[in-house]
Amino acid sequence: MRFISSIVAASVILAEVVAGAKVPRAFGVPTNDGFPNPSPQQILDISQRAKGRLPDGATPTSLPPNTITALQLIAFNELFETAFFTSLINNITSGADGYQDAPSGALAILTAVQAQEELHALGAISILQTAGAFAPSPCQYQFPVAKLGDAVALAETFTAVVLGALQNANVIFGQDGLSDFVRLVSSVIGQEGEQNGFYRLLLNRIPSEKPFLTTVPPPFAFSALQLFVVPGSCPFPLSNINLPIFPTLATNGGPVALIQPNDQTLSFQADLSTSEAAKQYIGGDGSGLYMTYTTGQQQPFSVSITNVQWQGSVISFSATFPFSSNQMNGFSHGALTTTNNPSSLDALVQCTLAAPAVIQVNDSIL
Ligand SMILES: *[C@@H]1O[C@H](CO)[C@@H](O)[C@H](O)[C@H]1NC(C)=O
Ligand SMILES: *[C@@H]1O[C@H](CO)[C@@H](O)[C@H](O)[C@H]1NC(C)=O
Repeated sequence: MRFISSIVAASVILAEVVAGAKVPRAFGVPTNDGFPNPSPQQILDISQRAKGRLPDGATPTSLPPNTITALQLIAFNELFETAFFTSLINNITSGADGYQDAPSGALAILTAVQAQEELHALGAISILQTAGAFAPSPCQYQFPVAKLGDAVALAETFTAVVLGALQNANVIFGQDGLSDFVRLVSSVIGQEGEQNGFYRLLLNRIPSEKPFLTTVPPPFAFSALQLFVVPGSCPFPLSNINLPIFPTLATNGGPVALIQPNDQTLSFQADLSTSEAAKQYIGGDGSGLYMTYTTGQQQPFSVSITNVQWQGSVISFSATFPFSSNQMNGFSHGALTTTNNPSSLDALVQCTLAAPAVIQVNDSIL
C-alpha cells in the first residue's frame, strides 16, 4: 500500500490498488450458510465452525439512542469482516495468485474466525431487532489487497481499529447503565484481541501489541470502514447510523501507513470539499490547524503542521511523528484538527476536519 503516491479519495486509492485493476472488485457477505438470515439449523452449523454458540440471555425491547448507534456500528463492522474473511478463505482455497503460501493451520483458524464474525454480526443485529431499532444489512465491499501478507496486515489493522472502538462502545453502555452489554462486548474484545495476536505473529510482530491498546472514537472507526465499502452499495442510507463520516486522511500516500519505529516526518493529504467546518481554512497557510495523534490510552496530543499546500480544497501537509517520546508502537491514529491538544476523546471528535490517519509501526521481531 505504500507504493501509491498522491492520492486523495478513498475510492481512487482502492481503484488503483486492487490487483492493478482500475475498477475495484466488489465482494459480498457469505450466503452459502444462510447468512445473514440463517435458519436455526444453519445457526447450529455456523456455531459448530465458530466453536461456540450465540449468547442466549434476554435483551431489552427498547434501548437508548447512543447504545443503538454503538450496536449499529458493531453490526456494520462485523458484516464487513464476514465478507473479508470469506474472500480471504476463497483466495487461499482456490490457490489464487499471491495466496499460495498460507502457513499450515491458517485455513482452519480463518474458517473459525469467519464463523465467529458471523455470530458477532448476528448477535448485534438480533439485539437491535429485539429493541425495534434499525439493523444494518450487508453492503458490497472492496479490499485494497491482493496478497496474503497484505491481507493479514489489513486484518490486523482493521481489528486494531475495532478493538479501539469497542472500548468506547463499553463507555456508552456504561453511561446508559447496560452492564450486561459491557460484559458481552468485553468478551468480544478479548476474542478480537486473540485474533490480532495471531495476525501479529504471522507478521513477525509481538502478539500483545502494547500494554494499553489505542482507543478509537466511534466516528473514526465508522469513517475508516468506508474505505472498504463500495460507495453507494449499502441498501440503506449511511445516515441511518448516527455517526459523522470524516474525509479520509491519507498518510504517506495511502490509506494505511506502515512505517519504521523511529521519529520521522509524515506526509498527509485530505480532500476537505465536503467539510463545512473546513471552509474557513481552505487556501490558508495552515495556521489554526494541527495534527493530533492518539496512541494507547494517552490523551490525544497535537503537533504543528508544515509545508501546507492546497489544490482546490485538497490539503497536503507534513507533520512530525514523535515515536520515541510517546512510544508509539503498533497502531496509532491521527486527525487534522482545529484545536491544539484537545482535552478529551469527545473534544477530539468535535474539532476534527479529517480522520483517521491510520498509522502502523512495523515493530518487527526479526
Ligand atoms: C482475494 O483476491 C482478489 C483478487 O486478487 C482480491 O481482489 C481480494 O482483495 C482478495 N481478498 C482478500 C481478503 O485478500
Ligand atoms: C518490517 O521490518 C522488518 C525488519 O526490519 C523487515 O524485514 C520488513 O521488510 C519490514 N516490512 C515492511 C513491509 O516494511
